[in-house]
Amino acid sequence: MPTVEEILVPAPEPGHLLDPARLFGNDRPLEMEIGVGKGGFLLRRAREYPEINFLGIEWANKIIRYAADRMARWGVANVRLIRTDARHLMLHHMPADCLTVLHIYHPDPWPKKRHHKRRLIQPDFMAAAVRALVPGGRIAVQTDHAEYFEQIRAVIAAETRLVPVSFEDAQTGVVEGRIETNFEIKYLREGRKIFRIAAIRQDSPAGGLSAGS
Ligand SMILES: C[S@@+](CC[C@H](N)C(=O)[O-])C[C@H]1O[C@@H](n2cnc3c(N)ncnc32)[C@H](O)[C@@H]1O
Repeated sequence: MPTVEEILVPAPEPGHLLDPARLFGNDRPLEMEIGVGKGGFLLRRAREYPEINFLGIEWANKIIRYAADRMARWGVANVRLIRTDARHLMLHHMPADCLTVLHIYHPDPWPKKRHHKRRLIQPDFMAAAVRALVPGGRIAVQTDHAEYFEQIRAVIAAETRLVPVSFEDAQTGVVEGRIETNFEIKYLREGRKIFRIAAIRQDSPAGGLSAGS
């Protein structure tokens, strides 16, 4: 049974890349969720797919401790959680070509205009995220915030290596209305509209990557 200390691991040191094989003790496929909150989605996924590694990122201390405790109680050996700023991690510490799926559900919308710069999904973040995906890797984003969704859609559309795909993909646990994060459950109960988008990294047919890779 993994302990909370084994699940909740430190962020990479400055100047170092995350080393998934060292983190998990194997080189199985890796999915990442940003903003895991209480960890409902990640726990369900990790229990369903013990042969996949799951890395959860969350910056709120109390919540990530709750999630780590929950993972430990369920005895899931394939989850690691890191308390850090996902933007910083993605821009400075993610190795290229390592994520099969990047899940982002209900990222903080920062609704006030003067706070928009704090939003996670910006062009530089997305460029780094695409680089971290394996070719054919997938990003799925869901939000209840219509205006932030427009920004997310534009940022994804501007990434030439991302190709839009259907949000629904049961194999990666991405099923409309069944992500089952705390926020999804709450918003569905309130009857709010939820916006969803997914895309996959597709490199150029010639095999060469486009600029910035
Ligand atoms: C609105 S909640 C959604 C939580 C969960 N995904 C859900 O759907 O229930 C957003 C979560 O993302 C976390 N978060 C926001 N920005 C973050 C960042 N830059 N790095 C890591 N976590 C972040 C917040 O602390 C919060 O737990």
